[in-house]
Amino acid sequence: MAKAAATNLSNCLAILAVFAINISGSTADPDPLQDVCVAGSRHHPPPSSKTNVYDEDPTSKTAGGYVFPGHGSTDATHMAASNATTNGTLTGVVCTDPRLLSAADFTFQGLNKAGNTHNTLGSSVTAVNAKTFPGLNTLGISFARIDFAKNGLNPPHVHPRATEVLFLLEGDLSVGFIAGDNKLFSHNLTTGDLFVFPKGLIHFQQNIGNKNAISISAFNSQNPGVQQIVEAVFASHPSLPDELLELAFGLNKEAIRSIEIDLKSLSI
Ligand SMILES: *[C@@H]1O[C@H](CO)[C@@H](O)[C@H](O)[C@H]1NC(C)=O
Ligand SMILES: *[C@@H]1O[C@H](CO)[C@@H](O)[C@H](O)[C@H]1NC(C)=O
Ligand SMILES: *[C@@H]1O[C@H](CO)[C@@H](O)[C@H](O)[C@H]1NC(C)=O
Repeated sequence: MAKAAATNLSNCLAILAVFAINISGSTADPDPLQDVCVAGSRHHPPPSSKTNVYDEDPTSKTAGGYVFPGHGSTDATHMAASNATTNGTLTGVVCTDPRLLSAADFTFQGLNKAGNTHNTLGSSVTAVNAKTFPGLNTLGISFARIDFAKNGLNPPHVHPRATEVLFLLEGDLSVGFIAGDNKLFSHNLTTGDLFVFPKGLIHFQQNIGNKNAISISAFNSQNPGVQQIVEAVFASHPSLPDELLELAFGLNKEAIRSIEIDLKSLSI
């Protein structure tokens, strides 16, 4: 009896350990080094008291573990840490002084509004990442709303830094991704379905219903990035040499020019 319980416990622990490894291994962005680092540059004047920049005292006025630049310390180590934070070398942005933060810094409004799908592709992506929602900074997640007119297409693209999980809020979408061995995984989604697009793989979504569609995506990066495949190949700047495109895609110069003209009209 006791032995069985012990075996069960060790099995549980083994499963938990594997789970924990999977979680840490699936993190797209680095772990944060402090509770919050809302992107921005609102500053209080430095306080007169001497504060250790590594102070995690819960009674201190700083948020847990937060490093506020220039807290009166002149110690060289602290100064270096301060500069790193002030200059935002971890994420490219400055952290807002946490004493100035309120719930509004962690709120984003406006995703109730449909994007404008009056364009050639008939789709519109409203991305909510650390740039548009500074409260996401250092937290490793972001969000998007995609609107599709009838037949609207979000053309083949990749997110170099994130896996995407899409929730179909309204309508019918054909979605898919192409794995590294060129196998296509595609499915017709209906309202309420989820689909996951693994990090870095080419994927697309198209409205196949007879009305508008709306989807919501979550990404495991604060800045997933997006690279449109056709644009990357045919509209890089400077552009790839014609000879390269001719050989790679079996196209002649006229075909290449015509693709370039089509792309200009898309302005995606
Ligand atoms: C940090 O900034 C201070 C003043 O701005 C400067 O004197 C110091 O050299 C900097 N330290 C590092 C490591 O960049
Ligand atoms: C950030 O670093 C630059 C040097 O790279 C320095 O001139 C500037 O003062 C720093 N900014 C702050 C706010 O410390
Ligand atoms: C999705 O639906 C279309 C018709 O709208 C059909 O032609 C296609 O085969 C379906 N795809 C899958 C993967 O079921």
